[in-house]
Amino acid sequence: MSNEISQPDETPPQARILGIETSCDETAAAVVENGRVILSNSVASQAELHAEFGGIFPEVASRQHILTIHPIIASAMQDAHLTLSGIDAIAVTRGPGLPGSLVVGMNAAKGLVLGAGLPIIGVNHLEAHVYSAWLHRGDQTPPDEPKFPLLALIVSGGHTELVLMNDHLDYQRLGGTLDDAAGEAFDKVARLLGLGYPGGPAIQQAAQYGNARAFSFPRAWLEGSWNFSFSGLKTAVLREVRRLEASGMTLPVKDLAASFQYAVVDVLVGKAIAAAKEFNAREMLIAGGVSANQLLREMVEERAPVPVSIPPIYLCTDNAAMIAGAGYYRFIQGQRDPLDMDVLPNWPLSEL
Ligand code: KG4
Ligand code: ZN
Repeated sequence: MSNEISQPDETPPQARILGIETSCDETAAAVVENGRVILSNSVASQAELHAEFGGIFPEVASRQHILTIHPIIASAMQDAHLTLSGIDAIAVTRGPGLPGSLVVGMNAAKGLVLGAGLPIIGVNHLEAHVYSAWLHRGDQTPPDEPKFPLLALIVSGGHTELVLMNDHLDYQRLGGTLDDAAGEAFDKVARLLGLGYPGGPAIQQAAQYGNARAFSFPRAWLEGSWNFSFSGLKTAVLREVRRLEASGMTLPVKDLAASFQYAVVDVLVGKAIAAAKEFNAREMLIAGGVSANQLLREMVEERAPVPVSIPPIYLCTDNAAMIAGAGYYRFIQGQRDPLDMDVLPNWPLSEL
């Protein structure tokens, strides 16, 4: 795919984008300058609200977005010391995500662009996770420019995608999960072990004091394909828990958490590195909520044959700075969406 993005030796077009994100259980708004510099980044997490259900309750999520969206946008504009007259376009998550949640952000964005006469840009949430790796605050050293071809692993609560990027906004999907997403597996196993929601941070914390080799859980390598599968691993943990409970033993929760985490991370890192070698990637990138995992970050840094970009922890989970970041590259490519654009709850990267 060719695009009109400037070469590094040209001055990039200047633009400030307001990003809006409501695809799941975070209500977020942010202002980003030139796709890279975060001027503000407001996030309201609903995690506590959903914790009592042990997972996201879609109806509760959309109603909470309605309550929070306007204060969050106001706070992002205020933190950036801007009014809408200082904004060049509004980027909003169009999908994938929960339909009832996506429409709240989409309608808020439409209202604002109608009032202010600004362009609107629908952004793919998975693409935005990739672009989170190049964001920084004004007082921080900017991350290096991406080096293509780049091998990206996007690991979140809903997705596990292995993607080759040959240029900005140019994605070749190599594979993805055939069943549970990596984050979903963390969440389900955390529930099984009584560790609560969201499961990723809870498993990581429990695993810290556990033995990762106490249980040898299965790894689905799926040789010859770039796909992943985590449902067998989840079932193996379930069987082990049932066996231990039947024997009357107290559950060794820390060892189970550590062994499970090691099995997931081993496969994610192993396959991503194999793909980077196979496709002669010059850089690797890991993004999405699961990229906040400490073991994953350490293992990929240790084993990768090329430099690795991973966003700082606060940009790994859902935020709107990444929507504004990706939105900028779409904006300078000329993308403008109509006001009757609908949300796309199942929008794959391969359709970009
Ligand atoms: O990207 P994200 O915020 O939302 C989606 O787009 O899905 O990812 C949320 C997922 C959840 O499944 C959560 O358990 C997982 O990311 N997660 C982690 C960690 N922090 C968040 N998984 C493993 N280790 C972590 N430290
Ligand atoms: Zn996400």
